[in-house]
Amino acid sequence: MAKKKARRKKPQGSSPRYLLERDADPNPIRQFELWLDDARRARVIEPTAMTLATTTRAGVPSARVLLLKGVDRRGFVFFTNYESQKGRELGENPRAALVFWWGKLERQVKVSGAVTRVPDAESDVYFATRPAGSRIGAIASAQSTVLASREELDRRVRELTKQYPDGDVPRPPHWGGFRLNPDMLEFWQGRADRLHDRLRYRREGSAWIVERLSP
Ligand SMILES: Cc1cc2nc3c(=O)[nH]c(=O)nc-3n(C[C@H](O)[C@H](O)[C@H](O)COP(=O)(O)O)c2cc1C
Repeated sequence: MAKKKARRKKPQGSSPRYLLERDADPNPIRQFELWLDDARRARVIEPTAMTLATTTRAGVPSARVLLLKGVDRRGFVFFTNYESQKGRELGENPRAALVFWWGKLERQVKVSGAVTRVPDAESDVYFATRPAGSRIGAIASAQSTVLASREELDRRVRELTKQYPDGDVPRPPHWGGFRLNPDMLEFWQGRADRLHDRLRYRREGSAWIVERLSP
């Protein structure tokens, strides 16, 4: 007799167009991972792209898109130039916000928290996985500083390519990772008539409090 195929339980988070408290994972990092998996499965363009907002010491904001390179219970990791505008601003005010937007799924996630540099060894490991061209780029580009011309950058790249013919480029000290340790995550699911679902998790001690916000 043919074996009856076991019905696979639909994973939480893949519920199509609503977000209810009973379906949400009590741990916001797991809930984020479920939604990121959904975005990957839905073939969203650049599912790990996120807007990072930072401020100067005086509170002047700036924002730009980066790629998320890791997430676990310790937080959200991204890599950049420590001397860039964002790098300098994170030195002045080590708090930041992230926004993910997965349009196909009508989903947004907001995250905020304190930011620290990842240990050098962690940056070394990730840097070593990057293609040689990107590693040369990390040295050639003094990110966020003014260039006289495109030629100035191309010349630096040519010189560095000669200097490292085998592509064995070491990580420069001004390039590495940051980790945002969240104290707030909000999951937004678009719904009809702009009556969206919004579940906000906020950290209280070691617990996460989940609250529904008005759309
Ligand atoms: C899809 C996308 C992904 C990007 N990923 C990164 C990244 O992971 N790291 C990075 O430093 N810049 C990344 N950038 C470039 C940044 O948006 C930005 O131009 C650069 O980091 C300089 O920002 P700043 O001058 O505000 O510091 C990315 C841009 C786009 C559009």
